Amino acid sequence: MKAEAPQTIYLKDYTPFGWHVESVHLTFRLAPNSTRVLSKIRFAPNPDAPAQDFFLHGEMLKLIGAKIDGATVTPDVTDEGLTVTVPSGAFLWEAEVEIDPKGNTALEGLYMSNGMYCTQCEAEGFRKITYYPDRPDVMSTFTVRIEGDEKVKLSNGNPQEAGEGFAEWHDPWPKPAYLFALVAGDLVNFPGAFTTMSGKQVELNIWVRPGDEDKCAFGMEALKKSMKWDEDVYGREYDLDIFNIVAVDDFNMGAMENKGLNVFNSSCVLASPETSTDANFERVEAIIAHEYFHNWTGNRITCRDWFQLCLKEGLTVFRDAQFTSDMRSEPVKRISDVIDLRGRQFPEDQGPLSHPVRPESFQEINNFYTATVYEKGAEVIGMLKRLVGDEAYARALDLYFDRHDGQACTIEDWLKVFEDATGRDLAQFKRWYSQAGTPRVSVSESFADGTYSLTFRQETPPTPGQPEKAPQVIPMAVGLLNPNGDEVLPTTLLEFNQSEQTFNFSGFAAKPVPSLLRGFSAPVVLDREAGRDEQAFLLAHDTDTFTRWDAGRQLARETLVDMVLTGATPDMAYIDGLEAVLRDETLDPAYRALMMGTPSQSELAQVLADRGHVPDPDAIWQAAETLAQVKAERWTDLLPRLAAEAEVTAPYSPDAEQSARRALGAAVLSLQTRLDGGAAAETQFGRADNMTLQLSALSNLIRAGRDDAALKAFHDQWQGDRLVMDKWFGLQIAATTPEKVVPRTEALTAHPAFDWKNPNRFRAVMGAMMMHHAGFHSVDGAGYRLLADWLIRLDDVNPQTTARMCSAFQTWRRYDAGRQEMIRAELERIRSKPKLSRDVDEMVSRILGA
Ligand code: BES
Ligand code: ZN
Repeated sequence: MKAEAPQTIYLKDYTPFGWHVESVHLTFRLAPNSTRVLSKIRFAPNPDAPAQDFFLHGEMLKLIGAKIDGATVTPDVTDEGLTVTVPSGAFLWEAEVEIDPKGNTALEGLYMSNGMYCTQCEAEGFRKITYYPDRPDVMSTFTVRIEGDEKVKLSNGNPQEAGEGFAEWHDPWPKPAYLFALVAGDLVNFPGAFTTMSGKQVELNIWVRPGDEDKCAFGMEALKKSMKWDEDVYGREYDLDIFNIVAVDDFNMGAMENKGLNVFNSSCVLASPETSTDANFERVEAIIAHEYFHNWTGNRITCRDWFQLCLKEGLTVFRDAQFTSDMRSEPVKRISDVIDLRGRQFPEDQGPLSHPVRPESFQEINNFYTATVYEKGAEVIGMLKRLVGDEAYARALDLYFDRHDGQACTIEDWLKVFEDATGRDLAQFKRWYSQAGTPRVSVSESFADGTYSLTFRQETPPTPGQPEKAPQVIPMAVGLLNPNGDEVLPTTLLEFNQSEQTFNFSGFAAKPVPSLLRGFSAPVVLDREAGRDEQAFLLAHDTDTFTRWDAGRQLARETLVDMVLTGATPDMAYIDGLEAVLRDETLDPAYRALMMGTPSQSELAQVLADRGHVPDPDAIWQAAETLAQVKAERWTDLLPRLAAEAEVTAPYSPDAEQSARRALGAAVLSLQTRLDGGAAAETQFGRADNMTLQLSALSNLIRAGRDDAALKAFHDQWQGDRLVMDKWFGLQIAATTPEKVVPRTEALTAHPAFDWKNPNRFRAVMGAMMMHHAGFHSVDGAGYRLLADWLIRLDDVNPQTTARMCSAFQTWRRYDAGRQEMIRAELERIRSKPKLSRDVDEMVSRILGA
C-alpha cells in the first residue's frame, strides 16, 4: 500500500545493480505470526555497473538487526527498503528480520494457507521475506535451512541434511529471488520417478493435504509426459535430483515455476473423474507442462527486468500449446486458443488497457501479467516460427540455450539469436514487441487473364500513448479453392509487410475463392467484406481446419448482428450449412462441438460498436437465445443422432477421444433442453458418474429454471470439496438468465461458504457475474455496483486479485451513455477509496483514461 503518488518505472531507465550476489544463506525459524528470517549474503562489487548507493528492497519487514563483515550497522530504513554504507570491496551482509505469515492475506511473500506455510515471490514478493536486491538480473545460489515442527519442509534445489525440527536445501543453479520458494506443513506426497535422457534418476513428488492423494495420479503422468516431451522436442533435460509440486488452496494465480519446487493453486493440479471436468483435466495437464517448461525458458534463462516478461511467458505459453497439440488435437487446440485470444486479448488491446507485448512503463508489475504479454506474446513466437520455418526455429532455439544459459536476457538477445541463426533482419518484426493494438487487415481481390490478385491493407488503430503506427510484418497464410471446391493453391505463406501490398497468382481458368489467414497465422482482425456465399462455401469445402471453422463463426456473427439490428430471423443458409458439417462423421466430434459454438455476447457487442452501433446487451442476449432455439427446432432429426455418437460406454477417461464426445454431447444437450424443458438433462444428472456429465446436466437444469432440487443435491453431495463447491457457486450465476444474475450473486455472497478471502471462491462468484454479459450489464447498474462494492472490500485484503478483476470495466466505452455514466461513477468510487492499493489505483486510472 502506498500513501504517496505512485511511482512509474520505465524500461529506458534500466541500470544494472552495483553488486553481484555470490551466495545466499537463509534460515527460517517458523512461527505463524512471528517468523524470523536470518540472511547471510555475500556481495561483491559489479565493475560493469554505475556508482550507486547500496539499496536493498524490503517491505512489511521488522528489522531485528544487521551486520556487515560481523560489525553491527544501522541502515536507513523506509517502507520500501534500506540504504546503508558498505565497504568498497566484497563483504558479508547479515540480517535478521521478523515477518507475519499468518497476517499476510495478500498471498505474496511468505504466507499461510490452511495451516501450511508457503511462498509466492514472483514478481516482487521476495522483498516481503527479507532485505534483498529483488530484481531478476541478480542471480545467486541459495542454501536454505528451515526450522519448525512441520512434518514436511521444502525449498528449492536438492535436499541436504535434515533432522528433528530442521531441514536444509541447496540449489546449485544461480537464480533470481523471484524463483525462491519455501513450503512447510503436514503434507503427504504422491511419489513418482523419471529417468532423464542421459540416465539421471529424478525423484518426483506431488505434495497435498491428507485426503487429496487420490487426485494426484493424473498430474504425475502429465509431469512425466512434459519431461519427456521437452527432451524429445527441445532437447532439454531436467537438472536437479528432485522435482516437487505442492498444491495450495489459497493462491492468486494458477501456478508458479519456482526452481525445483513448483507451487500450484490446488485447482490446477488436483484432478479426479468424480470432481473434475474434462476441461479441468486438460488445464491441469497444460499448466503442469507450462511450469515445468519454465525450467529452461524462465529459470535457466531468465529475464533481465520485468519489462522482458514475455521473453519467458510468451515463449512458455507457446511451448505448452505445442505440447497440448501433440498430446491431443492440433486443430482443436488452435481454435480454442484463438477463441481465447479474441475473447480476452483483443478487448484488452482495443481498449484503455492496451499495451505492447513488451511494455515500456508500469506502476505495479503484477498488473502486466496480461493476455497481451502471455497470449499475444505466444502468437509473436508462432509468427516468428512461421516466418523462419520449423528447421530454422529449432536451430535458433539451440543457439538461444547455448548462448544464454545462466543469463538474464532481453527481447533484443532473443531476436539476435534468430538473426544470427537465419541471417534475417528482424528490425521490422520487432514492432510486434513495441507496438500495441490489433492490426486490422482489409482485403480486396481482382481476376483478369487467368491472374488472381489479392491486395491487403493494414492499419493499427491508435492506443494509449501510441497515436501513430508503422506497418508490421504479417505472415499471411493463404490457400485458394476452385469454384468446385478443389484446392488449387495449397497453403502458402505471404509476407505482408507494407501498408498496402498486392500478391498475384496466375494460371487459373476461373476466379478462385480465397481462404485467408489459415491457421490464424497472425493475431490480426481480418476485415473481409466477403459475401455470405463465400463463407458458406468455405464452411463446406475449406481444407484448413481453422479457416473452415472461422467461416462458420463469421456466418454466425453476421446473422446475430442482423438479428440484433433489424430483428431479422436467423439465416437458414448458415444453419443448414452447419448441419452438413455436423453430419460429417469423419470429423472429430470435438471439432464439430466447436463448430456448434457461436461468438460470445461480449464479442458481438464489440462488433456492433466497431460498426458504429451502441450495443444493447439485452437485445444481444435475445438474439443468441433465438438463434439457439431455431437451431434446436430445425435439428430435431440431427440432435438424437449426434447424441448417440456422443455416448461413451467405456469407463471414464479424460483423454482427447472421450472428452471430444462429451463436448459434442454437451453442445447437443444445451439445444435439446430447449425442446424438452430439461428432461434429458434431468436424466443425465441422475445417472452421471463423472463431473463433466454432472456439471453439463446441472448447467442445463439451471438454464431451464429446473434447478432447485439439483442445486441442493449437488450441494449436499459436494459440500466437503472446496474445488467442486467453487463450481457450484459459479455455475448458478453463469448458467442463469440475465435478470437473475445480480440477485443470485448477491445471495451467494451471503452464503456461509462464501469465503471471500479465498481467491478461487471470490473469482468463482464475482468472475461468473462479470462474465455474464447481459447480467452484468443490467440496465439499472446493479451489477456494476455489486462488483465495485466487493472490489473495494477485497482491496484491503488482496490487491493483486482485486486489480485483475477491475478488467471487467475495461470495455465500458462501448456502451450507451447511461451505462457509461454508471460505470464511470463506480470506477471513481473505487479510486477514491482510502488507502487504495497501488495495484488497483493503476488499473482504475488506466481504465478511466486518467
Ligand atoms: N510465472 C507465472 C505465475 C505468476 C504470474 C507469478 C503472475 C506471479 C505473478 C506462471 O508461470 C504462469 O504463467 N502461470 C499461469 C498459467 C499458465 C498456464 C499460463 C497462471 O498462473 O495463470
Ligand atoms: Zn508462466
